Amino acid sequence: MSQAKALIRPDRGEDAVAIHLVNKESFEAFAKGLTAGQRAALGAQKFEGGGYQFAIVPEGDSFFVVSGVANPESLSAWCLAKLAEELPEGVYRLANAQAGAAMFGWVTGQYRFTRYKSEDKSQGPRLLLTAQAGQIDGYLAEAQAEYAVRDLVNAPPEDMGPAALEAECEKLAKAHKAQLTVVRGDSLEQDYPMVHAVGRAAARHHAPRLMHLVWGDPTHPVLAVVGKGVCFDSGGLDIKPPSGMRLMKKDMGGAAHALALAGLVMGAKLKVRLHLFVPAVENAISGGAFRPGDVLKSRKGLTVEIDNTDAEGRLILGDALTRASEENPDLIVDFATLTGAARVALGPDLPALMARQDETAEAFLAAGKAHDDAAWRLPLPEAYREYLASDIADMANSSATPFAGASVAGLFLDRFVGEGLDWVHFDTFAWTPSPKPGRARGGRGLGLRAAWHAIRARYAG
Ligand code: BES
Ligand code: ZN
Ligand code: ZN
Repeated sequence: MSQAKALIRPDRGEDAVAIHLVNKESFEAFAKGLTAGQRAALGAQKFEGGGYQFAIVPEGDSFFVVSGVANPESLSAWCLAKLAEELPEGVYRLANAQAGAAMFGWVTGQYRFTRYKSEDKSQGPRLLLTAQAGQIDGYLAEAQAEYAVRDLVNAPPEDMGPAALEAECEKLAKAHKAQLTVVRGDSLEQDYPMVHAVGRAAARHHAPRLMHLVWGDPTHPVLAVVGKGVCFDSGGLDIKPPSGMRLMKKDMGGAAHALALAGLVMGAKLKVRLHLFVPAVENAISGGAFRPGDVLKSRKGLTVEIDNTDAEGRLILGDALTRASEENPDLIVDFATLTGAARVALGPDLPALMARQDETAEAFLAAGKAHDDAAWRLPLPEAYREYLASDIADMANSSATPFAGASVAGLFLDRFVGEGLDWVHFDTFAWTPSPKPGRARGGRGLGLRAAWHAIRARYAG
């Protein structure tokens, strides 16, 4: 799998190609300082100083780069990403700006998923030198986390089943000396009945399980992180049509976000007692599959009538959130590719955020905005709880009406989060359908850095 290699390095004055950043206003003055031949080169490349535009300008027997950005004084995460994708292999430095947040885009712009390409046709690395040595590790850690999400989501479902997710949790636990417990088989059926029910139709080598990783000083506040690990979502007996199933390898995207966030928390040695929960299943079809009309008894004791086997994520999360609540956490954060409705409401670039407490929601939204990873809040309206009423059980897993699908799924989860606990739920798409600079088509972190920065601020000091 790809590595966020050292694509950024402290600037020790070695030879590097200069990148001059301009915007439409400063471009004119900049061009005046060039030779007629250099101006002709810019003209020939139709360079006007617009965002994501760049041009190669000859100088002596070498060249420099001019690139348009909105504001050279304060760079956004993505403003250098296209350069990092398209410049020739080599070593670069910014001539008139601090890279800052753009370090993230510089690295993610060079992400490629080449695991299944017989021949790696991608270009060699473009290395960025920066004087901001103290900031490199932080941005590299975030980029590494983003690479991890993308690698996990991009992997085909046969190679990223519950066992592979378990192996990823094991790797993470080893790297940070955390304890990992994995619950499978009869214990899973006993202790996490909804995880077992959803995953029980899968082939033996994709048997369902729940990973629980614990790290940190037990006297620190408990942070619980939970991720939906549906390694493939066929819909179950309520089978999805081909178009709806095509991308469902990404239905473990929530688990990928949770793992990446846990890696950031442990890597930064945040002062928390971390509990990571990853319920991992394949929502498959066989004679043993759970059915519409079945009633499951959850870990919490609540009975759930299955209205639709395709609303499976909330079932496995329900048991995991119950277990997370048993740790009496200071905060629970979950990530899930939970509903198509969230994507209909907000599109693929904005994850939906739901939270019990306004203050917590606002802290997460602000962190997202500040780090070019915006989320949008959706409500958890009391009045819509009735959509989950069941005639024969305590509740149903989906609603008879199509209204407010993302919120109704959030309300389902809310029933399994301990009373009074602070809880944030991300309904994330975990995918880039049409590529943009720094965001190749495929798996993608959405809400990951919003959560990371909010959590870091909450437990700083
Ligand atoms: N994994 C899907 C949600 C999904 C679909 C996320 C498409 C991103 C893109 C989830 O398990 C699901 O199928 N949800 C159903 C719920 C419905 C049956 C209440 C949905 O959204 O249609
Ligand atoms: Zn589903
Ligand atoms: Zn799903």
